[in-house]
Amino acid sequence: MNIRISLTLLALLALAACKTEPTQPEPEIGLIAQKAMVVSAREEASRIGSEIMKQGGNVFDAMIATDLALNVAYPFAGSLGGGGFMVYRTKDGDYGAIDYREMAPAAATHDMYLDKDGNVIPGLSTEGGLAVGVPGGLAGMFAIHEKLGSLPMKDILQPVIDLARNGYVVTEKQAGRFDALREKFIEVNNDSILYATAFAKAETVKNEALAQMLERIAANGKDEFYKGESGQKLVDYLTSKGGIMTMEDLANYEAKWREPVTFEYDNLKMISMSPPSSGGVCLAQIMQAIEPYDISQYGHNSVKSIQLLTEAERRAYADRSFYLGDPDFVEIPIDTLISDAYAKNRMESFSWNTATKSSDMTHGALPGFESMETTHFSAVDQYGNAVAVTVTLNGAYGSKLYVDELGIFLNNEMDDFSSKPGVPNMFGLIGAEANKIEPGKRMLSSMTPTLVEKDGEFWMTVGTPGGSTIITSVLQTVLNVHEFGMGMQEAVNAPRFHHQWLPDVVLFEPNSFDPEVIKALEAKGYPTNQDRSPIIGKVDGILVLPDGTLEGGADRRGDDTAVGF
Ligand code: DON
Repeated sequence: MNIRISLTLLALLALAACKTEPTQPEPEIGLIAQKAMVVSAREEASRIGSEIMKQGGNVFDAMIATDLALNVAYPFAGSLGGGGFMVYRTKDGDYGAIDYREMAPAAATHDMYLDKDGNVIPGLSTEGGLAVGVPGGLAGMFAIHEKLGSLPMKDILQPVIDLARNGYVVTEKQAGRFDALREKFIEVNNDSILYATAFAKAETVKNEALAQMLERIAANGKDEFYKGESGQKLVDYLTSKGGIMTMEDLANYEAKWREPVTFEYDNLKMISMSPPSSGGVCLAQIMQAIEPYDISQYGHNSVKSIQLLTEAERRAYADRSFYLGDPDFVEIPIDTLISDAYAKNRMESFSWNTATKSSDMTHGALPGFESMETTHFSAVDQYGNAVAVTVTLNGAYGSKLYVDELGIFLNNEMDDFSSKPGVPNMFGLIGAEANKIEPGKRMLSSMTPTLVEKDGEFWMTVGTPGGSTIITSVLQTVLNVHEFGMGMQEAVNAPRFHHQWLPDVVLFEPNSFDPEVIKALEAKGYPTNQDRSPIIGKVDGILVLPDGTLEGGADRRGDDTAVGF
C-alpha cells in the first residue's frame, strides 16, 4: 500500500511539474500483500480463499474454497462439472501436481463424432450430452484435501455454501455473457433452469441447488457426487440429453498425482503441468528453444522478439499435435522433447530473414521413437506454500447443459480429443493418434498452471485460461518479468500475441501493437491477424518482490481480483 501511495504521489507531482508535456502512464502496480494472497477471476472467490488463510488455513485449504467459490460466482468455468490441474510447491521446496482432468466415458469410441462417411458432425463434441467428459473437479478437491489440507472440509465448504445461498452480484462483463448465451441455455436445456432468467448487472444470483449439493457433500464426502444422490441426478439428466455417462463411469473416476514438468531457464527453475496437459512440455520446448538468444536486448514486443517466439511456438505446437496425449494411454518422449539438444536441432531451420511456413513444418523426428472456458487462479499462503490452479468446462459454460437440480453447468471437454486426425477442434488445434478418443482416456489439454523458482527460492505463480493461447500467454508473462523487467501487474497488462503452428497465422490483441512492427513481420512472410481474438489469455499471477512482499497481477481483461493480507 505504501509503495502504491508513493507512486501515485510521484505520478501526480510529475504531472503537475510538466502539465503541457505528454506523459507516459506509470506502469500499474498490482495489490501488494505482506503474507498471503489469492488472485482469481472473481473477487468473492479470492476473498473467501484469503479469509481461509487468515483463519490459519494453508494455501491448499484456500485453493479448495476458491475453486468451489468460482463454481458459484463464475459458472462460466466451474470445476464441479469439469476438471483441471494444480501445480504446487510447499514451504520446504517440495513440489508436485495433480490431474483432475475429465475422462471419456466407458462407452466413448474413437469415431463417436463421425458420420457414416467418416466426416466430423459439427457440434456433437461441443454441445449437448455427448460432449461431456466425466467431471474430475470434486475428486481433485478431496484428493488435495487428504494429502495437503489442514482445516476440516466442512469449514472450507461453509463460506462457499453461504455464497451460493446468499448469492453473488452479477458484474457488467458477466451480464453481457449471460445475455449473449441465454437463448442457447434455454435451447440446450429448457426455460426453467436458473440461468434462463435474464440477470442484469448488479443483480444477485442465489443458487440454492448448489448450496444444497455442497451441504450434501459436506455430510457425505465425495461419494455424494461420484456414487450418491447428486451423481444419480447428473447421470439421469445427461441420459435425457443423449449422454452416455453412467454411474459406473462416475464411480471409476479418480484424480491422479503427477510428476510436474521441470526445466531450467537462466537462473529460473520452471515447474509446470505434465500430460495429459501439453502446457508444461510445450512451455519447456519453447523456452529451451529461445534461451540461447539475447531476448531482453531485442526489446518487448519488437519484431525480433515476436519472430523468435513465433518460430519456437510453431515447432512446439507441431510436436504437441503428434506426440502428446494421456500418458496412461500413449508413450510420450518427454525427456527428449524438452532437452536442449532437441531444441537446438528444431531451431536449425529458423532464419531471421523469413518466416518458416507451417505447411513445410511437421513434428520433429525422434531417433528410435515409434509413433504410435477455463479459469486460472494463483495463491500463496503466509507459511510459504504456493499453488497454480487452472480449471475448465472447456467452452464458455461448457456443453451449455445445466443440471438445475445440482446448480452446475457440465463441460464439453470431449472436444479436446482429436475427433478425427487432421480436423481442428474449437481452438484450431490439430490432433493425431496420440489424442484419439478411447474409453477412460483423458483428453489433451493446454492448461499451464506454472510455478517459478528464482535462484532456488519461490518466485512466481502464474497461469491463464484461453485454450490454445494458454501456453503462449504464460510464456510471455514470465518473459515480461524475467527478460523485460516488468512487475507482475504490468506483465499481465502487456499486450499479447499468439502462434500455434496451424493455422499459420500470428494473432495479436487488437490495437495494441505498433503498426510498424506488424508491417515488418508481414514483410518477412508472417501472416498476421489483429481481429480474430480480442483477448489472448486472462492471466492471474503472484510475484515475490525483492523485499519479500507479494505483488498480485489480476487481469483487467476480466473481473479478476487480488485479495491478500
Ligand atoms: O484444456 C484445455 O486446453 C481447454 N479445454 C481449455 C479451454 C479454455 O481455456 C477456454 N477458455 N477460455
